[in-house]
Amino acid sequence: MRLAGKVAIISGAASGMGAATARMFAREGAKVVIADVLEHEGRQIADGIGVSARFEPLDVTQEGSWAVVVGATTGHFGKLDVLVNNAGISGSAEQDFYSTEVGIGSWRLTPPECSWASSTRSRP
Ligand SMILES: NC(=O)c1ccc[n+]([C@@H]2O[C@H](COP(=O)([O-])OP(=O)(O)OC[C@H]3O[C@@H](n4cnc5c(N)ncnc54)[C@H](O)[C@@H]3O)[C@@H](O)[C@H]2O)c1
Repeated sequence: MRLAGKVAIISGAASGMGAATARMFAREGAKVVIADVLEHEGRQIADGIGVSARFEPLDVTQEGSWAVVVGATTGHFGKLDVLVNNAGISGSAEQDFYSTEVGIGSWRLTPPECSWASSTRSRP
């Protein structure tokens, strides 16, 4: 039970792997913040988990949005132990996965973990 009593923010938790991660964390005894741009879906996931979960709106590309979510998390649950930075997009017609160049527009729209991967190629 290494997650028992921990407080976690999980970005992109309104669907897919983030939602599954949130449910698993809660089963293991953690408090989870479902943080996503999809408010309706995120609230449904949080409601399905129960009192150990809450939804907070988050756009991971906006620095100020992070400050609000961290403040809401520590305000509601009293602390923050874990960040699962799962939010992401699976590319667009503008992006070529094998390209050695990343346009500044794509860079700004790409969530952090994807940006980190991109930085191993070419940062504009
Ligand atoms: N599913 C796969 O096979 C796979 C493979 C490799 C990497 N990934 C990565 O894993 C992560 C989750 O994948 P998934 O299949 O569960 O995807 P998904 O599309 O089901 O979930 C991604 C979530 O991220 C949210 N999101 C997107 N942009 C956001 C933003 N700017 N701010 C906040 N939330 C945002 C979406 O609203 C969505 O709820 C993604 O980062 C994806 O790129 C997935």
